[in-house]
Formats: sequence, structure tokens, C-alpha cells
Amino acid sequence: DGYDLWLRNVPADAAAAQQIGANARSIVGGTSPTLTIARQELQRGIAGLTGATVPLTATVQQGAILLQSAAQQDKPLVPTDGLGPDGYAIRTMTVVGKPVTVIAGATDVGVLHGAYAWLRLARTGAALDRIDMRSAPRIGLRLLNHWDNLDGTVERGYAGQSIWDWWRLPDYKGPRYTDYARANASLGINGTVLNNVNAKSDSLTAAYIAKAAALADLFRPYGIKVYLSVKWTAPMELDGLKSADPLDPAVAAWWKAKADEIYKAIPDFGGFLVKANSEGQPGPQDYKRTHADGANMLAAAVKPHGGIVMWRAFVYAHDNPDDRAKQAYSDFKPLDGQFADNVIVQVKNGAIDFQPREPFHPLFGAMPKTPLMMEFQITKEYLGQSTHLTYLGTLFEETLKSDTLAKGKGSTVAKVIDGSLEGHKLTGIAGVANIGVDRDWSGSIFNQADWYAFGRMAWDTDLTAEAVAREWAAQTFSPDPRVVAPIVAMMMGSREAAVDYMTPLGLAHIMGTGHHYGPAPWVSELARPEWNPVYYHKADKQGIGFDRTRTGSNATGQYAPALAKLLDNPKTTPERELLWFHHLPWDYRLQSGETLWDGLIHHYDRGVETVAAMQRDWAKLKPQVDAERFAQVETFLAIQHREAQWWRDACIAYFQSVSGRPLPAGSAAPA
Ligand code: GCU
Repeated sequence: DGYDLWLRNVPADAAAAQQIGANARSIVGGTSPTLTIARQELQRGIAGLTGATVPLTATVQQGAILLQSAAQQDKPLVPTDGLGPDGYAIRTMTVVGKPVTVIAGATDVGVLHGAYAWLRLARTGAALDRIDMRSAPRIGLRLLNHWDNLDGTVERGYAGQSIWDWWRLPDYKGPRYTDYARANASLGINGTVLNNVNAKSDSLTAAYIAKAAALADLFRPYGIKVYLSVKWTAPMELDGLKSADPLDPAVAAWWKAKADEIYKAIPDFGGFLVKANSEGQPGPQDYKRTHADGANMLAAAVKPHGGIVMWRAFVYAHDNPDDRAKQAYSDFKPLDGQFADNVIVQVKNGAIDFQPREPFHPLFGAMPKTPLMMEFQITKEYLGQSTHLTYLGTLFEETLKSDTLAKGKGSTVAKVIDGSLEGHKLTGIAGVANIGVDRDWSGSIFNQADWYAFGRMAWDTDLTAEAVAREWAAQTFSPDPRVVAPIVAMMMGSREAAVDYMTPLGLAHIMGTGHHYGPAPWVSELARPEWNPVYYHKADKQGIGFDRTRTGSNATGQYAPALAKLLDNPKTTPERELLWFHHLPWDYRLQSGETLWDGLIHHYDRGVETVAAMQRDWAKLKPQVDAERFAQVETFLAIQHREAQWWRDACIAYFQSVSGRPLPAGSAAPA
């Protein structure tokens, strides 16, 4: 039923079970809460794979697994320097004449990560008798952002209600919280923001602080810290202050006292996430102060406790006539260098809003003096929500590998957020969670892969989407290559399919306003111009696309000059982003030689065809997948196919009504 996620325990085949057993005859380890968890995870995982109960022993035996935390040992068997607080080393070696596996970390949490990594190797069928690996994340903060409301609903959540049972916390702590911590720790996720960025002040009351503290206590041994989103006007709403002006000493004192109160309950509290002056949320600009003024005031409150402030750059204003894609940069770029050293600015992957495809956000590479963290959306607001199979690993990879050219070639987005490009120590990446109380956590089996991919790629930004899909499929279904290969192939093409049947060639935001699910490119009458799909595609009799070049909105000018130059010319703009940057005539020639009009139709057709191919490939897997999960995926693919056609037919009909052009020969869309 999917509850166990990628930590599923199914018996390995005989040969695999034999080698797992031979390399895990006993466990030698410590007794701290975290090392106990590491040992229990290994015992549970190995029992699931081999059926054997692995004993905890005091002395080293042949085939033992030794848990070695530098925090607990003076003379480590495996050096742990360079592993940082989270990393691990796994090495097979001979100890007192016996072949063993050492799982080492500089901290207990490092060892726990190593234990999960060893289990990943075991579950994916890797050789266990000769391991020599070291792994440490380059990004410090690897967080989930829950958009969970205190009333139990989840903004843009498609997997049921919130898993935080606020009513029964702090007393009742059901087993789901532990399973949540296990799943996250197995990926190396080390923090969680519990509540929605559209925050309510109540989350800062004593009652809710106690609830958050109960969760923090549960998550602590898993190496996961708790954070809260805050509402800017909380001092007014909770305690009747006259203003929320960040430069008002009474306001600063309120936040300082609030931070002290939180840290008393949660000594390792991570800090605050803030959505301010964005989509109706209050913020420092209401008092003619800047985002930096606001962030720095909050940062001062948490600083004595070692806390941080994550200040979101997702801003655009109803009274700003400028291209929405430019507004975050316009607001934040001038503030570079003005933020306190415990502030990190959280930037969405693209400049609009989690579209099936967006060019990377121009702020990456543009604020060298400010640490920037990535915000990805794991929940698929614009990519088919809970039913469409659209694996996000490829989206994450595409963004992380994008080259900003900010300091010459190779200045990738990954290097901006891991701090290496500008020498920042405070580094982070966040994923808006797709988790709810659904039995399978994420609304569908395949949506679990997006949570998995986020965690794995946050740990190691060099991992490819394909390698991650492989790991996930092997653990979730079976390590049998006849299962893994076709599932990975489906996953790898799936997001491009959604781009094709929703918003090909750089189109964006033509979904129905509000729900963001189905097509609505025709909508033009909503109050705010940037809520209307016509604002984004600008199709007319002559052509289609948003001119963001030097002679248009000049959004290209927000990128490094070398890149801006390429993007100003449609011929040197990646075709996948063509209509994001250019308004072009319908007769414009694509690289394939066909006209833009014909190419657009072909992309829509191709998207639908790819989903049909996914259906055929899945059908072939019936003998290898259990009936329940097979049926869910089969049904969801049927929904996806029907809706891909809906997208194609609606978009083509609309664009045709504007362009007046005939469909190219061979198109499957209704004429
Ligand atoms: C999107 C999303 C909102 C969310 C906002 C944000 O606009 O539709 O529900 O609040 O992003 O990231 O703050």
C-alpha cells in the first residue's frame, strides 16, 4: 500500500540474501539514542531482506557491522575528518583479523546516515563485501517546507490532510511521526518547517510552541531540526502591539522575547521562515522598510541561540506594472550585502512559480554577498498534482546544472547554493513537501519518488535524476533490472511529457487560475493582469510568446551579461525556453525546420503519445508488481492520458482560434 515508502522490507532473492547475511552477521555499536536507532534500522532492514535476526554483540565477529561514531571513540578505525556533522564513511576492512564493515561518522547522526546508506546498497542489490565510500553533503540545510495549516488542511497538498495532529499534540505522538523521521533521515533531510508560509500568528502561541517542541523531541535523534513559518504581524495580533515596524524597538523586543520562549522549549530550534509582502502577506514594506530591515530584526532575535532566518524572495505586487518575472530580482538585488550573517534568502527555482519548466531564477548568481537557498516544490501544484506521473528528478537536475555564467563557465546554480561559488558557509535547499495523511503519504506511489529525489539530490547535487530514479525504483518495486529499467524509462520521460501536453516550448502559467490543474489559456478577465493566462502566452494572430528580451521587458538583462546576450536572440535561446523569452511569429522556423505553429502542435501531440507509451510500458509490468500498486498506477495513467488529451485539445483549439491556422497533417488533435 506504499506506507513503507522506499524503506520497504521485502525478502531479497536467495543469492542477494546470502551476501547480505554474510556481511551482516552481527552489529557492534553504541547505546546513544541515535546509535540505537541506527542499529535497530539495520536489524529491521536486514530481517526484512534475509529473515535473519542480527544480534547486537560486544565483541567483533567475522562479518560484523561496526558502528563507529567519532563522538564516542578516541581511536577511530576509519578517519572521519572532512565528513562534517552529517556525513559518513562505510568501509569493509579487517579488524582483529576478521573481515567487517565499519560505518563511521564524526557524529552519531553521521553514523545513522551511513546505516541508511548501507541499507540502500543492500536493497538495491549492490556488492557488500568490498565497500569504500565516503559521503558528506555540501549543502548545510536540507529542509522540507510543509505548507500545512493549523486547521489540518494543506495548501497545495494533494495527499490528504496534514500529518500534524495539532489537536492531540503535544501529548499524543502517534507512530507516523517516527516513520516520517525515518524516511527523511534515510535521505539526509535535516530540518522541517512545520507550518505554511501563509502563516497564522497562532503558531507562535505557547500552546503551539509546546506542540512543536514535542515533534522536535521526536525528530532530534534522527538529526532533524524543527523550524516555524511566522506571520509578520504576530506581535500585533498576539499581544496588541501598535505596529510591526522592524525598526520599532518594542517590535524587536517582542521577537526577542518570543525567540527566547521558543528556545526554552526547543533548545535546538532551527529558526524562522518568512513570507513577507507577498500575495497579501504583511511585511516590513508596509512600514516603508526593506526586506533586509525585516530579516535582520528577526535574525537578531534568534542569533544568540544560533538560529537562522530564511527570508523568501517570492514577491510580486499587484500595483507593479513590470513583468512579474522581474520583480523578485528588482526587490532583492539592491539589498545584496545588507543581510545579517544568519539570514539566508530563499529563492524559488524559477522566477514565476513552479511551472512544469522555467529557466532558473535570475537571482541565482546575482547576489554574491548574500547566501541564497533553493526552494523547489515537491508537491506538484502545476504538474498534475496527485495523479499524473511526472517525475521531478529531471526538473531538479536541470535547474541545479543550469549555468548562471555569473563567474564564467561552470557557475552552476548548484554551486551558488552550495556556497562554493561565492564562499558562503550558510547554505540550504528546501522542498515544499508533498506529504499528507494518505496511506501512501504522497497521494500516489510515484509521487514518493519526488520526495526521495529531493532528499537525495539535496544531499548530493551531483546525483543524476536517472541514478536516483534507479535507486528509488529498486527499493520501491524490486532490484530486478527487468523491473527497474522500464520504470526508470517511464520516469525519465514523464516530466517532459507533461511539459509537452501542458506548456511546450517555454510557455508557462496557462493553467486554470486558483486550482492550477487543467488548461485555461483563454482566461483574460481576472482583476490582476498577472493572474490571467493571456498575460503569459500573449498569443495573437501574428504569433505567440512573452518578449523578455532587451527590447521587450528586459528580464534577460537580469542574467549575467554573457547569458543575457544568448537569451536576447531566439536562435541562441534553448528551444525549450523559447516562448518564455521571445514573442515570435507563427512562421518562425524551429531547429527542426518546421514552423513554430506546426512545432507547437507536434509537442502537444507528443506529450499525449508519451503518456500512451507509459501506459503500454506499465501494462507489461503487471506480472512483476503487486496487484494493489499495479492497479493504482494503471488507473492514474488512464486519468493522465485522458487529461493530457484534454490539455492538448483545449490548448490547440484555443491557439487555433487566435492564429486561424490549419492543423498540420498527422495531428491527432480534433480539427
Ligand atoms: C504559489 C501557490 C500559493 C503559495 C505561493 C507561495 O503562488 O499557488 O499557494 O502560497 O506560491 O509560494 O508563497
